[in-house]
Amino acid sequence: MAGSGTAHLRDDPDVLIRVENMVVEFSIPGGTVHAVSDVSFDLVEGETLGIVGESGCGKSTTARAVIQLPKPTSGTVSYQGRDLTALGNEEMRKIRPDVQMIFQDPISSLNPRRTVHDIISEGLRVWGGRGVWSEERIEELMEAVGIDPRYSERKPHQFSGGQCQRISIARALVLDPKVIICDEPVSALDVSVQAQILNLLEDMKERYGVSLIFISHDLSVVKNVSDRVMVMYMGKVCEIAQSDELFDHPVHHYTRALMSAIPGAQVTGQADLLEGELPSAIEPPSGCRFRTRCPKATEHCRVEEPQVREVSPGHWVACHFPHERD
Ligand SMILES: Nc1ncnc2c1ncn2[C@@H]1O[C@H](COP(=O)(O)OP(=O)(O)OP(=O)(O)O)[C@@H](O)[C@H]1O
Ligand code: SF4
Ligand SMILES: [Mg+2]
Repeated sequence: MAGSGTAHLRDDPDVLIRVENMVVEFSIPGGTVHAVSDVSFDLVEGETLGIVGESGCGKSTTARAVIQLPKPTSGTVSYQGRDLTALGNEEMRKIRPDVQMIFQDPISSLNPRRTVHDIISEGLRVWGGRGVWSEERIEELMEAVGIDPRYSERKPHQFSGGQCQRISIARALVLDPKVIICDEPVSALDVSVQAQILNLLEDMKERYGVSLIFISHDLSVVKNVSDRVMVMYMGKVCEIAQSDELFDHPVHHYTRALMSAIPGAQVTGQADLLEGELPSAIEPPSGCRFRTRCPKATEHCRVEEPQVREVSPGHWVACHFPHERD
């Protein structure tokens, strides 16, 4: 888009999360930040949805608003058919264990004064959740994520970044969640460690039957872990498709520009190069928000916002003049 629309939402009984027309705005002294503007997507049980886009496009805000931190300015977020935006704090508390988050900086997201054992078990004490409290369960999870249970009395600073991210994953899993939202989970790690953590997430997904929302600014990371990928630009959805389809046949000019920037990537047809600065999120461009940087923009793009439409089965784009699917 960058545009709007809900035509791509699926009518599937296995839909776990359905985000519809979500808007998140922040009031700041200079005006209103339009962080997420009419975004819709869904997540089906067992699926990994990748969300990708440049820094500041609203990925983290989208993720946090799913768990109602902050509550969206408007729109709905349904989990298993219940609209979370309409729930009070007490009802939300019962659902919170089901949807866990893992963050970018593993070391600072763990309490430095707590032992690993306390960090992993804390969620059970705070939230209850469906997870069964037992020492065996903590030990099993430590082993599952590759941390020796003999180190359970150590503190985060005694572990590497990669090991801390393993501990974060155990902490999320202890509540027996249905969904884990991973916000740039490997961006702060060395490349060699990134692959290990991505493999671990895949293993945990299979073993514990969780579904994932996987956020990254790095297309090549998202490609390998996602079943479907949603590309965002300035708080809007540009394109959404099965991962292979999106990477083999990108049609949105922003997606194509992102792909052209990956070293060694092959984008058929003329490459769209990303030029110019990201506009202000306080005064986003009219019509298509990508128009100020789009090589194919016309007057029409200035006055009318594109809506998502299907270019091939399951492949959706919000662009008035998309690249022809080849
Ligand atoms: N609490 C807040 N108050 C004001 N503005 C905010 C707040 N949180 C986020 N923003 C703004 O909202 C927009 C989206 O930010 P967000 O952190 O969601 O982007 P992102 O895609 O996760 O970026 P990154 O890749 O850098 O993590 C940005 O313009 C950001 O400055
Ligand atoms: S062609 Fe127009 S609608 Fe499509 S991405 Fe470019 S500016 Fe947006
Ligand atoms: Mg972020």
